[in-house]
Amino acid sequence: MTGGDIQFDRQGRLRHLLTLEGLSRQTILEILDLAESFISVGEREIKKVPLLRGKTILNLFFESSTRTRTTFEIAGKRLSADVINLNVNASAASKGETLLDTVRNLEAMHTDLFVVRHAESGVAYLVASHVPAHVHVINAGDGSHAHPTQALLDAFTIRRHKRAFNNLKVAIVGDMLHSRVARSQIQVLTTLGVRDLRVVAPKTLLPLKVDRLGVRPFTDLHAGIEGVDVIIALRLQRERMHGALIPSAQEYFDLFGLTPERLALAKPDAIVMHPGPINRGLEIDSEVADGSQSVILSQVTNGIAVRMAVMALILGPSVEARSG
Ligand code: CP
Repeated sequence: MTGGDIQFDRQGRLRHLLTLEGLSRQTILEILDLAESFISVGEREIKKVPLLRGKTILNLFFESSTRTRTTFEIAGKRLSADVINLNVNASAASKGETLLDTVRNLEAMHTDLFVVRHAESGVAYLVASHVPAHVHVINAGDGSHAHPTQALLDAFTIRRHKRAFNNLKVAIVGDMLHSRVARSQIQVLTTLGVRDLRVVAPKTLLPLKVDRLGVRPFTDLHAGIEGVDVIIALRLQRERMHGALIPSAQEYFDLFGLTPERLALAKPDAIVMHPGPINRGLEIDSEVADGSQSVILSQVTNGIAVRMAVMALILGPSVEARSG
């Protein structure tokens, strides 16, 4: 399952965003450039443009979220769309309605775009394969498969701080095994030309044959982050762990926690990122999370512009119409 086959319409335009696998460098750069143009919207007195006026966006989150759901909602509203958040716990899903029946009913209300998060991999793809041609789907995180808009906002944040990707050394540190974010980050960063991309984790949290993804695996944190420009810390996804993959939280922090002393091994101007939610004292020390090299909250802010860009590209007028 990649989702790549149904992401584009017959004219080659992006119809859904389900995965970054197979997305061209040109399309990714188009999204990042468009996001750059939306940053100023968030800094104005009136934070709104009329690009998606009259469109209806439905946030369909079957798994908890703070950042993604809220920034999608803000992004849709800043584009002047009507945004509805379905309260899944209070919906008919709790009475046994199937997911596809829920989608069909919401579609009957003339929804233009579904933003879908689900704990199972492949659900956004399932929804996208059942909606009619004029309805669009964005994957807001499915199981451990993909989180494309998170990885795009991470790439956007890196570009804002470091400009070119080619000569960057980037280390992704933590629970790679369960991380949809890391999978999508690897796809976007390799497509954008990062040549030295490392994943750093205990052996139990590294997928088998991870090097085939175009990354260098490290099981020693010190070696993995030495001299890097960017450190991306990942959350330990305990809700997805079956069995004991780490000896204890304390031991994990002792070996893989990002502390000020360890951060000093990276370049002096290295930036520290984390998709959130962060577990202070488990994967990252508060001094690092709140320190001068942390861009964690900028990632959140940038998420609005990047999600505006993705929605505008999928749902808005064509590029010609936007620029004309
Ligand atoms: N980064 C991320 O997906 O955070 P949320 O789970 O809060 O949306």
